[in-house]
Amino acid sequence: MLTGKTIVIGVCGGIAVYKTVEVASRLKKMGARVKVIMTQNAAEFVSPLTFQTITGQKVAMDMFQQPEEWNIAHIDLAEESDLILVAPATYNIIGKIASGIADDLLTTTIAASRAPVVFVPAMNSNMYNNPVFQSNLKSLQELGYEFIEPEVGELACGTKGPGRFPHAQRVVEEVVRALYRKDLAGMRLLVTAGPTREEIDPVRMITNASTGKMGYAVALAALRRGAQVTLVSGPTHVEPPQGLQEFVKVESTQEMLEEVVKRCKKQDAIIKAAAPLDYRPVQSFDQKVKKESQKEINLELVRNADILELIGKEKGDRILVGFAAETQNLISNAKKKLARKHLDFIVANDITGEEAGFEKDTNKAILVFPEREEKLPVLSKLELSHRILDEIQKLRREIK
Ligand SMILES: Cc1cc2nc3c(=O)[nH]c(=O)nc-3n(C[C@H](O)[C@H](O)[C@H](O)COP(=O)(O)O)c2cc1C
Repeated sequence: MLTGKTIVIGVCGGIAVYKTVEVASRLKKMGARVKVIMTQNAAEFVSPLTFQTITGQKVAMDMFQQPEEWNIAHIDLAEESDLILVAPATYNIIGKIASGIADDLLTTTIAASRAPVVFVPAMNSNMYNNPVFQSNLKSLQELGYEFIEPEVGELACGTKGPGRFPHAQRVVEEVVRALYRKDLAGMRLLVTAGPTREEIDPVRMITNASTGKMGYAVALAALRRGAQVTLVSGPTHVEPPQGLQEFVKVESTQEMLEEVVKRCKKQDAIIKAAAPLDYRPVQSFDQKVKKESQKEINLELVRNADILELIGKEKGDRILVGFAAETQNLISNAKKKLARKHLDFIVANDITGEEAGFEKDTNKAILVFPEREEKLPVLSKLELSHRILDEIQKLRREIK
């Protein structure tokens, strides 16, 4: 998901340094090139060797290092970074940057960079609440620097209050958000999610195991990146994200089809993450079927219309993405679906795996394109959503 992105992590001399090791590791696993700059004081807490081993990159500390290692270190690092993350950000570094001081490699790199800078302040609560610090924080925020608010809790020094370094996953999510901010602004996207239900009688129905988590994650990721998102959803227990253009609740496959068809011409892209039922009962009863009245019920099913196939016929320039949850012949089934439904690509996952499937928070998918396939590692559904949106973004650029 972060493939092709360079993230420079500025590590300062705070007790939470060891937590930044975890952040660096997670960002690297997500495909980013992670380069670390440590202040001299940070190296009092953790050895540069730790970050070097985790990131697979030399750690930079010295502005005046030999040119064969870094051309002009601060300029190189400033220019190649897509984002600078300062974690932990000390009282000292925030004060220095707010005052325009550039007296070491980290502060000079930040001064020379046009990349977004995200600070993760972590310190004793009195330091955090100190009006000098708060005033520095405010003036940096006004200049567009970003801050991840520390957590409130027990601190290493024994006091309680604000100043705790947040959980690594939260830092990673904020980094992703800052990196992909609003790159989909203006794009109109329709996402379908969840299962559908087909009634047998007013109290009985057939459905499937889809939870809607994947589609809702796609909607959330797209919203964070500035898209105008319409979410058409079957019955789920997942909270819809804030900021949707439209949230349309449906029950049956036919309803989902009608709501999608009504809106599809207005969209730039459609992601069909829903698992609508392929069949419905030929007949549904108006009244509850009493068990005393029927010893046996033969449930005859008839095929529902295929939503994707239908909208694929009038695809135009619209980007169409489908999902294929399979238990066997994953790629060959996905390829058939891709061609039959005129899709741009398909997100294929083997739902028999440990890390993939309807109720899981992770997914292990293969992106299947007409001419290539890309196998992805196990990703959270939100991370996978960003990868899908990256591919849509690339296709949009090709169309334009
Ligand atoms: C054991 C120890 C723990 C410290 N923890 C923090 C901390 O969590 N946050 C902070 O802002 N400063 C902390 N400091 C103070 C900084 O190390 C000090 O302000 C230093 O000048 C920061 O340098 P730097 O910003 O260049 O890395 C700590 C100092 C010591 C000795």
